[in-house]
Amino acid sequence: MEGKKVLLTRLFPELGANLLQEAGFEVTKWEHDKPMTQQEMLEAAKSHNALFCTLSDKIDADFIRANSHLDVISQFAVGYDNIDIPTATELNIPVGYTPNVLTDATADIAFGLMVATSRKMFYLHKSILKGEWTYFKPNANLGIELKNQTLGIFGLGRIGFEMAKRCQGAYNMNVIYHNRKANPKAERELNASYVSFEKLIKRSDVLSVHCSLTDKTKGLFNKGVFNKMKSNSIFINTARGLVHNETDLINALQTGEIWGAGLDVTNPEPMNPNNPLLQMENVSVMPHVGSGTVATRNEMVKLAANNIIEFYRNKRMPHAVNPEAIQH
Ligand code: GLV
Repeated sequence: MEGKKVLLTRLFPELGANLLQEAGFEVTKWEHDKPMTQQEMLEAAKSHNALFCTLSDKIDADFIRANSHLDVISQFAVGYDNIDIPTATELNIPVGYTPNVLTDATADIAFGLMVATSRKMFYLHKSILKGEWTYFKPNANLGIELKNQTLGIFGLGRIGFEMAKRCQGAYNMNVIYHNRKANPKAERELNASYVSFEKLIKRSDVLSVHCSLTDKTKGLFNKGVFNKMKSNSIFINTARGLVHNETDLINALQTGEIWGAGLDVTNPEPMNPNNPLLQMENVSVMPHVGSGTVATRNEMVKLAANNIIEFYRNKRMPHAVNPEAIQH
């Protein structure tokens, strides 16, 4: 690994750089408390062999073509919609990612947002700060029950499965789902039923999005969809903000087409602090922290570093998005 240089595009858990350095790589760390600009990243990558990046770094076709000398791109995230995979593959640049290790942490946030929304927790916390806790009011601040409700999962993969398991264990929720293909494990272990997209949106009391962002899912949850959802339903998105149309979501909540929303991802990110969603009683928003526990972030950084180390050592990548790009 002598002479191989890795560029880390922002501050990652220290373990990542340590593992790379121990393996003999020269590591450049972006140490500032702000992301690199596109131009800074584009220029810096030119003098490196490998790029260690994350979900908000724009690794588009222009970036990859300008840096076609890169041996490998290692993404610190399970989603990789920020990377132009066909271009990387065309240029034989393998792209690594970090699946599995963040499944539980992300499902916890989806579950937590559902509970918080159903009981208006974020809003009530803010009301105390405003001095609005005056006396016990039997008719005020009432939430809705989740017990025996129908949970709809859009994109039942690893994270969707864990969300469904939590909802079943805690609230005996009936699980329905819509996917590109059936998930026999979820049907067997969670008694989940596959339904059409139309049935999913019409029947769900809680609809939780766990798909990846693709041309097909971009903007999918829009006016037409919210309009068909139950008026007592809660929309949860911990996947990617671009899967929902945020203006349509705001309207759907304002007009009572749906009851509430819990979001760990927004559109755009970061969310504008004046966004009306932040003022709504039945809305809970988190700043894209699904994988944000110490243990999970350490596991992610280990996988991402290991994808680079294994690529150079053994011409293999344990978690590659495009293994076909690894030349033998
Ligand atoms: C988080 O959003 C991830 O893709 O890891």
